[in-house]
Amino acid sequence: MTLQHTPNRSDIILTGDRATGPLHLGHYVGSLKQRVELQHANQQTILVADMQGLTDNAHQPSKVASNILNVVADYLAVGIDPDKTTICLQSQLPALAELTMFYSNLVTMSRLERNPTVKSEIQSKGFERSIPVGFMTYPISQAADISAFHATLVPVGDDQLPMIEQTNEIVRKLNGLAGEAILTECRPLLSNAPRLPSTDGKNKMSKTMGNTINLGASEREISAAVKSMYTDPYHLRVEDPGRVEGNVVFTYLDAFHPDKGYVDELKAHYQRGGLGDGKTKKILEECLQELLQPIRARRADYLNDKAQLVDILRKGSQISREKTETVLHSVKAVFGLNIL
Ligand code: TRP
Repeated sequence: MTLQHTPNRSDIILTGDRATGPLHLGHYVGSLKQRVELQHANQQTILVADMQGLTDNAHQPSKVASNILNVVADYLAVGIDPDKTTICLQSQLPALAELTMFYSNLVTMSRLERNPTVKSEIQSKGFERSIPVGFMTYPISQAADISAFHATLVPVGDDQLPMIEQTNEIVRKLNGLAGEAILTECRPLLSNAPRLPSTDGKNKMSKTMGNTINLGASEREISAAVKSMYTDPYHLRVEDPGRVEGNVVFTYLDAFHPDKGYVDELKAHYQRGGLGDGKTKKILEECLQELLQPIRARRADYLNDKAQLVDILRKGSQISREKTETVLHSVKAVFGLNIL
């Protein structure tokens, strides 16, 4: 069981996203909204994880390169403020790669093979025996990301809990070698919003499967996605009673509709019979159009000024470079390598 941790003002927060596609509604309810709140009271860094993105995309690097600024525009569009949150680019922080090398010596292959998230990703990505070494070892690199900032709180989805565990194991090993607390242990911060299902109700949302609604989705894309949403397959006629459990339209109404009482009434009506899917979808569509219209507009404005986005990343990376190098220096000292 994982304890739910709450943030303190003294917490140092680090989160990251693989830059492999634009961010979607799942990111919004699962973590972006929370980050917007956290930035007011806490020191927060967001890492655009381009190097981790490459661990399964090295054969198509443009998938990562072309999405870096999209992801930054997504952050800004939902209200992450670069004056409050440091936004930086992983590949601009060489200390992270160096820490990964040092930490690699503290982790066994069998430990990596036991990581349940990596295991299921290997399955879903169809690697079989051809697993890139970079992919297999990304939990070590993520431990470098987290520990290099002395992060104490890491907002993540539950699939990332094994990475937090791995990070703390490395932190304890290194501190054990040092005989003092050089690195800081961290706690996960899970979102209290349930994981948003994909629009087809089948799978986890996936950028590649086309079952997501991106934050930059056009009006037509939103409309088409809602119309094709999975509902209750046995709800054939409007007058039939319908099921709301597993009905994606209701899951999204729960997640996004501001009036919970109204959603409860809709659910009761649907369960009694007499409420059609066309109607529930129309209500959901209106609510999503209203939510995403201003986000889409701000996102487009930011993407029209790429120089500004690059500048934000450059400044954030500069600040972070200094922080992460300090940690690298103390880790090298543990191995007796600060000779020169
Ligand atoms: N693994 C995270 C993801 O799948 C991305 C990530 C990279 C991350 N480094 C991190 C998350 C550090 C939290 C902390 O999106």
